[in-house]
Amino acid sequence: MPVVVPDNTVQDIKWWHSATVYQVYPRSFCDSDGDGIGDIPGITSRLDYLQQLGIDIIWLSPIYQSPMDDNGYDISDYRAVAPEFGTLEDFDRLVSEARARGIGIILDLVVNHTSDEHPWFLQSRQTADNPFRDFYIWRKPADDGGPPNDLQSSFGGPAWSLDPTTGEYYLHLFSRRQPDLNWENPKVRAEVYAMMNWWLDRGIAGFRMDVIDYIGKQVDRQVVTDGPHLHDYLQEMNASTFGGRDILTVGETWSATPGSALLYSGRDRKELCMVFQFEHVTQQWDAVHGKWRSKPFDLAGLKTVFGKWQLALANDGWNALFWGNHDLPRAVSRYGDATGYHSQSAKMLATVLHLLKGTPFVYQGEEIGMTNMPFTSIDQYRDIETLNMHRLQMEAGLSPEEFIRGANESGRDNARTPMQWSAAPHGGFSSGTPWIEVNPNYVTVNAERAMTNDASIWNHYRKLIALRKAHPVIVYGDYQPWLDQHPDVFVYTRRLEEVRLIVVASFSPGQVRLTVPTELVAEGKCIIWNYDPSDKIEAEMVLEPYEAIALLTVA
Ligand code: GLC
Repeated sequence: MPVVVPDNTVQDIKWWHSATVYQVYPRSFCDSDGDGIGDIPGITSRLDYLQQLGIDIIWLSPIYQSPMDDNGYDISDYRAVAPEFGTLEDFDRLVSEARARGIGIILDLVVNHTSDEHPWFLQSRQTADNPFRDFYIWRKPADDGGPPNDLQSSFGGPAWSLDPTTGEYYLHLFSRRQPDLNWENPKVRAEVYAMMNWWLDRGIAGFRMDVIDYIGKQVDRQVVTDGPHLHDYLQEMNASTFGGRDILTVGETWSATPGSALLYSGRDRKELCMVFQFEHVTQQWDAVHGKWRSKPFDLAGLKTVFGKWQLALANDGWNALFWGNHDLPRAVSRYGDATGYHSQSAKMLATVLHLLKGTPFVYQGEEIGMTNMPFTSIDQYRDIETLNMHRLQMEAGLSPEEFIRGANESGRDNARTPMQWSAAPHGGFSSGTPWIEVNPNYVTVNAERAMTNDASIWNHYRKLIALRKAHPVIVYGDYQPWLDQHPDVFVYTRRLEEVRLIVVASFSPGQVRLTVPTELVAEGKCIIWNYDPSDKIEAEMVLEPYEAIALLTVA
C-alpha cells in the first residue's frame, strides 16, 4: 500500500519502516550453561524480555563456528554453529520461538573475509595452483621482499602477511587470521549465495552485512571501499538470494555518503533495504588519531550530520538509526552524562534518535542505560583491536595510563561487557566466571530493576518503540531542523499532512533558557518526556539538564 508523503512522492510501505531492531552480541547476552560465555539457549530464554520491550527483529552478531580471533567475525564454517554458542537445533528453536512472539532473526553475514581455519583457506595456502588459490587474494612480494603495497589492516599494521609455504603474501584487511575473500572470483560469489539461501530456507528474516562496502575492492589500485563492481555484486546477490523474499537487509558501510546510500538502498536499485552510515560517529573523532583521541563534543556538528542524512534520504532510500553497536562505546557515556544525569540523558538520547525517520537499532543493554567499563589494566581487555593498538601505541611511546584512558572512552570492549540482568553475582549473566568482567554498576543498572520502575530508561524505550507503531508521522513524516547552530539543544519537527511532531531536546548538563521560533510555539499532545509532560511549547522555555520533550499537534 503506498502512502502519500508531504511532497507528493509515493513511498511504498514496508514492514521494516516501522520496525525496531535489537542487536544481540551472543557472547555477552545470556549464559545458560555456566561456562562464562553467552549462548543461543540463553538468548531464547530472554525472548519474553525482548517481546515486552516491543522489538520486531533481533540482529545476532555471528554465531557460526569460529576460532574466535575476532569474537566470531572470523568464520571457519558458515553452516555450523560455534559449539560454545550451542547447536543448529538450538538455533532453529530460537527462530521458531522468536517467530511465535512476532520477532524475526537476522544473521550477521561476514563474507568480506573468512577465518584462516576455513577449509577454503587451508586449501588455498597449500600450493600456488590449488583450485582454491583464487578464493583469496595472493600476491608476490615486492622487489625488496616486502608486502606488495601499502594497504593497512584496520586492526593496525600491514594488510599483507607472508605465507612461508608458497612464499607469497595474502591480503587481510582485518587480523592476519581473517584472510580476505576474492570477490572477483565467481566461484566465491556462488558459494556465498548458496550459503545465504541455506540460512534463508531455515526461516531467518534477513542479514546484517559486515563491511559490505569492501567487497568490490581492487587491491592493486589500493581501492578498498566503493570499488567499481560493488553495486554489481550486490545486485547479483539480491537476484541470487533474497530478492524474492520480504526480508530486512542492512549493510555496514563506514564509507557511505548520502549519494552512495541511495545506490545501496534506493527503491529501484534491487540492492539492500538500508545501510549503517557512521558519519555521526566519526564526526566526533580526531582527524589524526581517529577514535583513540576524542574531540570535545560538538552538538552543532552532530545535528548537521543527522540533518544531512534525513534530508538526503527523504524520498528515496532509507536510514538506519543507531547510537551504538558492538564496535562503539556506550551511547550514554559517549553522548550523555553517565554519572551526573544517567537516566535523563539516556532517555533524551533515545528520544532524539527514535523520533527521526529511519529504522532504529537498539544495542543490547542500551535500553537499561549500560555504560562504558572502567577498566584499569590492559589485562582486562579482550578485544583484538584494542590489544593490537596497545602493542603499537606502546611501541610509539604512549604511556600505559594514556592508553587506558583512550581505550576506556573508545575501545570496543565497552560494549561487550555482559548484559546486566539483575543484582545477582555477575549481573545474572552467568553462574560461572564471565569471559570478560561485568561492569560493577550492575548492582543498580540492571534489567530486573528497570522493568519494575515506571520511570526507568527501559520503560522509556518501550514507549518510544510503541509510539513508532502508533503514529505514521514518526515513520514517514518530513524532517525539518530548527536552531541548527544552537550549541546545546537539538530541535526538529516532522510533518505528515496535517500532523506535526515537535521534538525539543537538550544536550546540556545545566539549565538552558531557550527562545523558541514562533512557528514552533504550539499546543498539542505530549507523547514522550523525561521530566514533566507539558502540552505546550512556549515562546520562552527553560529546559532542565538533558530534558527532552515531544509534542504532537494537528494544524
Ligand atoms: C565489522 C564488525 C567488527 C569486525 C570487523 C571485521 O566492522 O562490526 O566487529 O571486527 O567488521 O569483521
